[in-house]
Amino acid sequence: MTIGISDIAFATAYQVLDLQQLADAQGIDVGKYYIGIGQSEMSVPFPDEDIVTMGADAAAQIIARHGADGIRTLLFATESGIDQSKSAGVFVHGLLGMGERCRVVELKQACYSATAALQFALGIVARDASEKVLVIASDVARYALDTSGEPTQGAAAVAFLVTADPALLEIEPVTGLHTDDIHDFWRPNYLSTALVDGKYSLAAYLGALEGAWGEYRSRGGAAFADIARFCYHQPFTKMAVKAHDRLCKVAGAELDKEQRLAQIAASLQMNRRTGNSYTASIYVGLLSLLERDEADLAGERIGFFSYGSGSVSEFFTGVVRPGYRELLRTARDAATLDDRVAIAHARYRALHEAVDAVQGSDYETAAETPGPYRFAGVVDHVRRYETRG
Ligand code: HMG
Repeated sequence: MTIGISDIAFATAYQVLDLQQLADAQGIDVGKYYIGIGQSEMSVPFPDEDIVTMGADAAAQIIARHGADGIRTLLFATESGIDQSKSAGVFVHGLLGMGERCRVVELKQACYSATAALQFALGIVARDASEKVLVIASDVARYALDTSGEPTQGAAAVAFLVTADPALLEIEPVTGLHTDDIHDFWRPNYLSTALVDGKYSLAAYLGALEGAWGEYRSRGGAAFADIARFCYHQPFTKMAVKAHDRLCKVAGAELDKEQRLAQIAASLQMNRRTGNSYTASIYVGLLSLLERDEADLAGERIGFFSYGSGSVSEFFTGVVRPGYRELLRTARDAATLDDRVAIAHARYRALHEAVDAVQGSDYETAAETPGPYRFAGVVDHVRRYETRG
């Protein structure tokens, strides 16, 4: 039996800040962002958008195509949870009118947890081939204003359906793991923005890649030469370029710069415009690769490196199924990015500051998002969500 991803859908926040705006406000050359870190824009949520509205937006596309019947597990992966106890997935389950016979749980380990969700989903389907698991990865990446992490903020969600005999991508069984108790990036419960040791986090990411790749190979994983494309966690797209250069070196692959870039270029295009989306980022990269790579990837093997600070990481592979292109929502996803409302730096900054101003109080949000679901505010400490009429 083969198991893997049958369908995958994308959503992001409905506002966008061009990093030119940020560079201008900071009085620096935008080349640092456009070229140096490889980011051109960041998605910025309206006040009535969050991980639940983005997650529901992505998952609704899966449910519209496949129905909710038979989905007995919903796994919600996030670093930017909205409740310490209740899973954000339960809110999505309610918004989408899914049936009661469903287990719903939230998973956390920085940017890695969507990959944990994928692996757990594969296990559930391996035990009973009739099971379908809906995985949602949704995050709003926030750093404090005027810190080095600020240009790497962003927001997006991906939902994917894990089944037997998958139509899109078969996930292969061999994986390589690497865990290390470090503080490269973390977020204490009392902060709405992440703390990061920027330069150290880059070194930690690259070290973890070597560790996970080493274990992957020692467990019988495919040789580098048998992997056609690579998809990395992308806190900013230049990180994936650095990671792939490192992997080529470690694996002894003698490829020139152009050849190395050709193996990852299509996977970078969407993240370049959403910004970091933590748990969703590697799967936004997968969608970007499938939708934007001009080559026919049917039958080709993709290598994935999933990294979550703290840190837990995994290298694994998948093989693209014939007919995958017919299942993609390529035009819709391009329009989702193009149609975001462009905002100026002053509005971005005001929205950023407003997040902490309302913490702990009851409040109503104005109806602003053009998206299908909205966060209406907090009443008696309960978050209220609604479908937009
Ligand atoms: P910085 O120190 O401000 O930037 O922050 P820099 O001085 O290192 O410059 C960045 C690059 O721009 C450099 O290129 C410069 O040379 C270049 P590099 O040497 O790296 O190749 N540059 C220019 N290029 C062209 N024209 C110019 C120009 N000026 C400079 N005019 C840093 C960089 C990444 C540290 C910062 O953005 C940061 O702290 N980001 C957040 C942390 C992060 O993303 N870490 C990544 C690894 S950890 C991870 O991936 C996990 C994470 O997603 C969280 C999770 O797991 O949940 C973060």
